[in-house]
Amino acid sequence: MISYLRKNKANYFKEVIIIPLVTTNEMFEKSMKEHFAIGAFNINNMELIQAIVDAADEAKSPVILQVSPSAIKYARINYLMKMVEAAVETSDIPIALHLDHGLDFETCKMCVDAGFTSVMIDASKYDFEENIRITKEVVDYAHSKGVVVEAELGTLAGIEDEVNVSDDDAKYTDPNQAYEFIQRTGCDSLAIAIGTSHGAYKFKGDAKLRFDILAEVKEKLPNTPIVLHGASSVIPELVDMCNNNGADIMGAKGVPDDILKQAGKNGVSKINVDTDLRLAMTAQIRKVFNEEPSVFDPRKYLGPARDEIKSVVLHKINDVFCSSNKA
Ligand code: G3H
Ligand code: 13P
Ligand code: ZN
Repeated sequence: MISYLRKNKANYFKEVIIIPLVTTNEMFEKSMKEHFAIGAFNINNMELIQAIVDAADEAKSPVILQVSPSAIKYARINYLMKMVEAAVETSDIPIALHLDHGLDFETCKMCVDAGFTSVMIDASKYDFEENIRITKEVVDYAHSKGVVVEAELGTLAGIEDEVNVSDDDAKYTDPNQAYEFIQRTGCDSLAIAIGTSHGAYKFKGDAKLRFDILAEVKEKLPNTPIVLHGASSVIPELVDMCNNNGADIMGAKGVPDDILKQAGKNGVSKINVDTDLRLAMTAQIRKVFNEEPSVFDPRKYLGPARDEIKSVVLHKINDVFCSSNKA
């Protein structure tokens, strides 16, 4: 089943490690045809991987596991590869492993060479021409290795990895530019800016997304899978649970489920979630620490944290993204 061409430690990244991961091609094709979205969940430890894959497996949904550069720095790429391999081995669903917000060619190349099936090059902070140049360089390399590429056009408000973007600098995606960008880069999917932002503080007033821009982009690019970053709903019950157990997360607000559901039905193929998983994990850990001060066995708080993450992912897959039974 799972075979290795790896011969020794020194060759770890030079040899191809064969893990039966899939690219996002087939899952996106199905999502565009059947109008649902695939959840892309950020991972950086074992509990997250197990919870996400267990939930997707139970719901018979395809799933994307994504890793940011800072998650790679934290967990180390070889540990991540091994844990993902274990998850793939013990599940029956299509799983893609994706680099989230790759900031340069070298990071994308490292992940392609390590066995990722999808990479994001996020050159959205550069001007249009430079974004095209960097994206095209990544596309040429990734495609030569059978790996797909997500790129970004437009700027989300909030924090993009190590790049701080203020509200004023956030720029919605221009649909005409999106069309030209796809023609000139040949990238496989496109992250667009329609009003979301990363983290727990997405909206000051009511949550609102620019569905008119999404519709225009889809009209010009009907066959390009569209990606929504910053799409956590910042689940109010989890924020409350954190705050009731000593946290200070006030005024947090995300994208409500009904808006995300609408996005999935109207052409968004990939919905990125990180913040909600962080909240789920933190809420349960804080609760155990607060209610059971004598606990010091990590399994006693990481176990409930893992269960909470799984139920968050199950809810999204079943009730919001509508990807259950699409594996
Ligand atoms: O979009 C950013 C993701 O939430 C990853 O965040 O760089 O803190 O891992 P991170
Ligand atoms: P959230 O911060 O809304 O979870 O967004 C995550 C994301 O876009 C990862 O790329
Ligand atoms: Zn993102």
